[in-house]
Amino acid sequence: MSAHEKTLHPETGGIVVRAIPFSFDEKINPVWYPGRPEWSHMANGASLTMPYLEPFLIKTVREALKKASNQQLKEDVHGFMAQEGNHFQNHRRYNEILKCHYPKLADVEEEMAAEYKNFQAKSLRWRLAYTAGFETMTMGMTEWLIEARRDLFGNADPSVSSLILWHMVEETEHKNVAYDLYEDLYGSYWPRTWGLIYGSFHVAWASRKGYK
Ligand SMILES: [Fe+2]
Ligand SMILES: [Fe+2]
Repeated sequence: MSAHEKTLHPETGGIVVRAIPFSFDEKINPVWYPGRPEWSHMANGASLTMPYLEPFLIKTVREALKKASNQQLKEDVHGFMAQEGNHFQNHRRYNEILKCHYPKLADVEEEMAAEYKNFQAKSLRWRLAYTAGFETMTMGMTEWLIEARRDLFGNADPSVSSLILWHMVEETEHKNVAYDLYEDLYGSYWPRTWGLIYGSFHVAWASRKGYK
């Protein structure tokens, strides 16, 4: 991040928060890449998790923020929360269209809501380790999506493609925030490693339910 960006967006640690109004009309095909239903629904399944996963991440870092001492880190956390907030709101708009086509997805959503509600009973260290772990996993995912973007999005619906790519690129912009926060508050290696494994598999498992 350049000093210029930090000066332009000091309240969010230099992280740029973009409110992008994606448009999804009723006629959008859930198979948004014509001829590639499997890939389309894998991404749809992931989209379905976002309005449950990302509010959980935001809530976790907001709680942890109270214990953070480093000013730059505090500003970064504000940038993290603002970007994640925009992400899940746009996914929710797309998911509403998906549910018009597949009403049973509401059951999957109900299950996710219950799971993330249960996670609230876990310790802050556990929730922050999950958050840092999931955020770490998104790095590899983004690299793959960007490198293979012509193959994965070449002839696809531009609004869904843009939603996914915008989201994942912003993930790289705040990639270190949850990790830094975890390190600042706890720093223990093994709980964070468990968070990486658990967080990644849990989100993949939740996505798979929607995909199926
Ligand atoms: Fe996000
Ligand atoms: Fe993120």
